[in-house]
Amino acid sequence: MKSIDDIEVAGRRVLVRSDLNVPLDKSGSGQITDDGRIRASLPVIKKLADRGARVIVMAHLGRPKGEDFAERATGGPSLRVVAGRLAELLGKPVAFATDLVGQSATSTVAGLADGDVALLENVRFEPAETAKDEAERGRLAAELAKLGDVYVGDGFGVVHRKQASVYDLPRLLPHAAGDLVTAEVAVLRRLTQDPAHPYVVVLGGSKVSDKLGVIGNLLGLADRVLIGGGMAYTFLAALGHEVGTSLLEPDHIESCKEILASAAERGVEIVLPTDIVVAPQFAADAAPTVVAADAIPAGQMGLDIGPESRELFAAKLADARTVFWNGPMGVFEFPAFAAGTRAVAEALTKVDGLTVVGGGDSAAAVRSFGLDESSFGHISTGGGASLEYLEGKTLPGLTALEA
Ligand code: 3PG
Repeated sequence: MKSIDDIEVAGRRVLVRSDLNVPLDKSGSGQITDDGRIRASLPVIKKLADRGARVIVMAHLGRPKGEDFAERATGGPSLRVVAGRLAELLGKPVAFATDLVGQSATSTVAGLADGDVALLENVRFEPAETAKDEAERGRLAAELAKLGDVYVGDGFGVVHRKQASVYDLPRLLPHAAGDLVTAEVAVLRRLTQDPAHPYVVVLGGSKVSDKLGVIGNLLGLADRVLIGGGMAYTFLAALGHEVGTSLLEPDHIESCKEILASAAERGVEIVLPTDIVVAPQFAADAAPTVVAADAIPAGQMGLDIGPESRELFAAKLADARTVFWNGPMGVFEFPAFAAGTRAVAEALTKVDGLTVVGGGDSAAAVRSFGLDESSFGHISTGGGASLEYLEGKTLPGLTALEA
């Protein structure tokens, strides 16, 4: 992959695909609750602007629904709030285009001077961005290509998506990988090529179905896999335990059984929680109780790993030389159910070796606990992207940059 240092950008219009998909406050204010991805995207935007490029940033926010741009823009999340935050962090104005390839984008780009920065509205307001149909995506990519002279792929969190601004556009313009993408790939490569042992993987988050592929692949690399969060309940069910009203993916119980059997065969230790913090409902003020993991009462749902599991997980991380962590151990957004995630985050800060935190939620958790980001080896901006990389899948956004 070519780096941005290899390309001439001064006086040129540089289209940068970043991942600015930040969490927004759901209570109505629409404010950004964690700006980690904006901060991570900043160095490349700044570097290009400092080199005299006319920087045009493209990004998505959420997964807006609707037939066309107008419908999606009415109900979907606008990047305007992100433009504001980006400007604050850059310390200079960011011109905001209220469409992607329409009049506003054209005039915004035409108005840029060397060193200026613009952000186009949510690429996913155009249904063609995520279309399965290549020709449809290709037409949008061709429109986008008219706005720039060069393409820079720096949205690591979205490189696993075969979408117009990620995959089709770089094929139409001279292109290079941004420093964030290069750095993320270099770290993930270290996790797959000759990692130091013991290599411990910690997986959490709600869906076991999202993680089956990665667990399968990591069984060939890791020494231990610690499983918490919502996905743990399908594993507990696979062991024959009742899980009350906890998250459960019944269709995947068999796959979990297969993973447990395959891990045992390969000598990989799978560590599940031994106790659980349960509550009668999913709410910040729900009354928490600690129960044994094999005795979750009917009518109660697991919302965090319990105190004994926190100690167990920390102990299983203590001697690690390589750690990959993706997904919270519980509903960390509710203080009563945050202790498990905090315990894992704190245990990682004590590891003497490479620690990688992947996934928007885990990264946001680390920051929300006020932990020093520099005590982690790498905090990845990619959730699905880092998992798919570790699964050994081909990532379209990287393929396009390599071509
Ligand atoms: C993410 O949040 O993981 C990335 O921004 C990709 O978003 P997506 O899963 O909606 O494609």
